[in-house]
Amino acid sequence: MTHKPFKAVIPAAGLGTRFLPATKAMPKEMLPVVDKPAIQYVVEEATQAGIDDVLIIIGRNKNNLSNHFDSVPELESNLAKKGDQEKLEKVQRSSDLADIHFVRQGEPRGLGHAVLRAKAHVGDHPFAVLLGDDLIDERDPLLTTMLEQYERTGAAIVALLEVPEDSIHLYGAAAVETTEIDGVVKVTGLVEKPAKEDAPSNYAVIGRYVLSPDVFGILERTEPGKGGEIQLTDALQELAANPDGPGVYGVVFRGRRYDTGDRVDYIKAIVQLAADREDLGPALRPWFKDFAANL
Ligand code: G1P
Repeated sequence: MTHKPFKAVIPAAGLGTRFLPATKAMPKEMLPVVDKPAIQYVVEEATQAGIDDVLIIIGRNKNNLSNHFDSVPELESNLAKKGDQEKLEKVQRSSDLADIHFVRQGEPRGLGHAVLRAKAHVGDHPFAVLLGDDLIDERDPLLTTMLEQYERTGAAIVALLEVPEDSIHLYGAAAVETTEIDGVVKVTGLVEKPAKEDAPSNYAVIGRYVLSPDVFGILERTEPGKGGEIQLTDALQELAANPDGPGVYGVVFRGRRYDTGDRVDYIKAIVQLAADREDLGPALRPWFKDFAANL
């Protein structure tokens, strides 16, 4: 299939109320996960999948976010003078990563509304949507597989994770059918945050989507849904229900994912990622064991 290069869209305009007061003057996507803001992991994931045009949808406190992806000449020359190459590279990495653009959401009216704000920038390119609450381990490529499935089907692609049935009400849930490809399912229906009894399955949509720009036309007429918000899930349900279109497929993710959406998961993500790191793990692991033994 020939199409224009993929772009990436990262919604980062939520209020982050679960992390107050840390998010009073800072978007939650800027909270550090070990020593990098969450949003940098997500931008790196997009660039690793070969996408170098990234649009971040920002809300209030946008300056922190845009500053992070700008160069900081005085800090850089200071580190260069000191000969601290390692730190200099860390500082420069976020500004060299990708071609990063910003657009404001204005009032937060839901994920579908945030994605619709990307319409002018995305134009007629297919695009990936990456939510900063879900971090995907760089050793377990998910987005690359999703882009391949988009190439193969021309359909909307969502990432799916099997979750315990008691957790499905926190996610978009998918009704699925198997396909001839292991790990790829056809999505026949989607419901945003259903009660356990109403969930079509325990396949949860996690925060990665690959979409054609046709979705913007649907989002424009999508009425507010769950929580009074314009839901991306509802627009995707329309695609899944259309027998004349390419539909929706799901890539079932079985790798390592770190949820940073609430405080407990955020702390777990930091502990897991730090324990795994070559520079921090050796010092931390014995301490964790000792700490756990004395709980
Ligand atoms: C959003 C989507 C939901 C999806 C989830 C993944 O919800 O609306 O369908 O399952 O992201 O993280 P949120 O977590 O932003 O409320």
